[in-house]
Amino acid sequence: MRLIREVRCFAEADPTGVLLNTWAGTTAGGDLRTFWTLRATVRGPVDPRTGYLCDVKAIDQLLRGIVAPRLATAPLSGPFWTALGTLLAGKAYSDGAQWCAPPARLAALELKISPHTAMTIREENPDMVHLTQSFEFAAAHRLSCEGLSDAQNAALFGKCSNPHGHGHNYLLEVTVAGPIDERSGSVVDLARLDRAVREHVIEPFDHKNLNVECPDFARLNPTVENIARVIFDRLKGAVQPARLASVRVWETPKTCAECTADDRPD
Ligand code: NI
Repeated sequence: MRLIREVRCFAEADPTGVLLNTWAGTTAGGDLRTFWTLRATVRGPVDPRTGYLCDVKAIDQLLRGIVAPRLATAPLSGPFWTALGTLLAGKAYSDGAQWCAPPARLAALELKISPHTAMTIREENPDMVHLTQSFEFAAAHRLSCEGLSDAQNAALFGKCSNPHGHGHNYLLEVTVAGPIDERSGSVVDLARLDRAVREHVIEPFDHKNLNVECPDFARLNPTVENIARVIFDRLKGAVQPARLASVRVWETPKTCAECTADDRPD
């Protein structure tokens, strides 16, 4: 069983210690400051007596009391991630804090520094950081199978087979994985990642008719699954030395396809 708990906090230590809004994490001070989200995943058995895997108040205290202050003093630097990796490995901080009573343990910790950038470390490999960056593009497509008539394609794909096409505002989430670079303090040079996505995805796909203007889909039905796979293959060699872990493409807020490194082995 896994329990996921999120806290919203400022990137500076709370000078007041008074949390008036537990939903948004605002403080009595009311100042405008950098805002982050921390999400902990705890795994373990459920206590048959209490029905709890872990008391979420304990997670909150540790995220707010230990992790957030460390973020404030060592934002995204190598030592910060090393400290979190140690935590994920099931060890305690020097001040003796434990995440939760054994055998429950921290399985993953995610830090969102903006609605569009998230970093995660997982217990199976605490030296590895997964960084997810979001992008968007708009494109038109028509779903159809070669060799089928318009009527047959309409029966198979419905309105998505309109011969004149239709459009989507696609949301793209690119996740790269790697160790923290000692000099930059990050998994990947974010500016370089942005350039790679711009060159290999945004410029060829944005405001285009995928079937007509993009050779990737000249013989390939541009479903969201195929779009995710094509984008993965386009970016795979462009984010090194980081490793491309996954590509998610949201076609609508309700429909998403994910292509992972396991789906596209070397
Ligand atoms: Ni569509």
